[in-house]
Amino acid sequence: MPGVPLFDTSAALEPLRDQLREAVLRVMDSGRFILGPEVQAFESEFAAYCGSDHAVGVANGTDAITIALRAMGVGPGDEVIVPSFTFYASVEAIPPTGARPVFCDIDPDTYCITPETVRAVLSRRTKAVVAVHLFGNVAPVKQIEQLGVPVLEDAAQAAGARGPDGRPGALGTAATFSFFPSKNLGAFGDGGIITTSDGDVAEAARTLRFHGSHDKVTYEQIGYNSRLDELQAAILRVQLPHLDEWAAGRRRAGAHYEQAGLGELVRLPRPSPGSSPAWHLYMIASPHADEVRASLEAAGIGCRAYYRTPVHRQVAMRRWGEGVELPQTELAARTHLAIPMSPVLRREQADEVVAAVAGALAATA
Ligand SMILES: Cc1ncc(COP(=O)(O)O)c(C=O)c1O
Repeated sequence: MPGVPLFDTSAALEPLRDQLREAVLRVMDSGRFILGPEVQAFESEFAAYCGSDHAVGVANGTDAITIALRAMGVGPGDEVIVPSFTFYASVEAIPPTGARPVFCDIDPDTYCITPETVRAVLSRRTKAVVAVHLFGNVAPVKQIEQLGVPVLEDAAQAAGARGPDGRPGALGTAATFSFFPSKNLGAFGDGGIITTSDGDVAEAARTLRFHGSHDKVTYEQIGYNSRLDELQAAILRVQLPHLDEWAAGRRRAGAHYEQAGLGELVRLPRPSPGSSPAWHLYMIASPHADEVRASLEAAGIGCRAYYRTPVHRQVAMRRWGEGVELPQTELAARTHLAIPMSPVLRREQADEVVAAVAGALAATA
């Protein structure tokens, strides 16, 4: 069938089928399904990959944010600064800590927050900043930390990226990842992890993910039942050694688009200074985004406007979003469109997408 899919989550796994089958059978035969040797091994391997001292596997990337913030000491009465141009979960995870989300704007070229956008909403109640490495780009975590406030990296979309100061996962006080199946490193179900080099934060996160208990006998606080399971950990262990090559494939796909002249038609995402993004989504921007979308869909080319309504204008956020003005967020929300991206996207496919974008824009002229 002609056309180009928005994602390709299966082609990169094809050569790993035997290893994946062996991993699943190994867990099945072990009889250990929760918090066993696979999770422990994956936590060590993932921490080493990121360059952090600890990793704590949890049930998904949303729980990871709530648990990490609580482990960092965020609670009732605190404010947590977060972008509005992100997946809803980056913000949804804050109120369960008791803290209030405070929205900040983004740099429209990188789609990430900056020290300036954070400074604009900083207050004496600010307890933490959630820096989202959106679309696989790398937010300037070290510069934001210089404002004197701890940073939690939301790296759900950025596994495999690298910034000038190291990898996401080792840049802030703690970081969170999602292993949702379509992510750069995807499980065969839900999964998430928290990384940190702060031993106290790691210990607090380990307790919180397990009902607020060390031993399931005494319970020190209200926690969660939120663990990465053995099966998902075993599957992720097979994939982790390939993450860098897949991220390189995503950057190659981005280069195909550039070489095919896409930058002359629409605005391309700009890597943040000194970074190698792991393009989870490849986000173009155009004032004609909706017309481009209709044409690509008609040509069988996958595309999607992910965040047309930014989080601060979602119904559930009314309490915290009313009166908030974020001009760059609104611009990005109106103009962005994700086009096909995967580690295996070929030059001919990029040419097909670019031709379809050119055709769509010619029709609007
Ligand atoms: C930026 C961002 N944060 C948080 C999440 C939440 O992760 P999960 O779906 O694993 O809960 C996602 C993805 O779904 C995401 O893209």
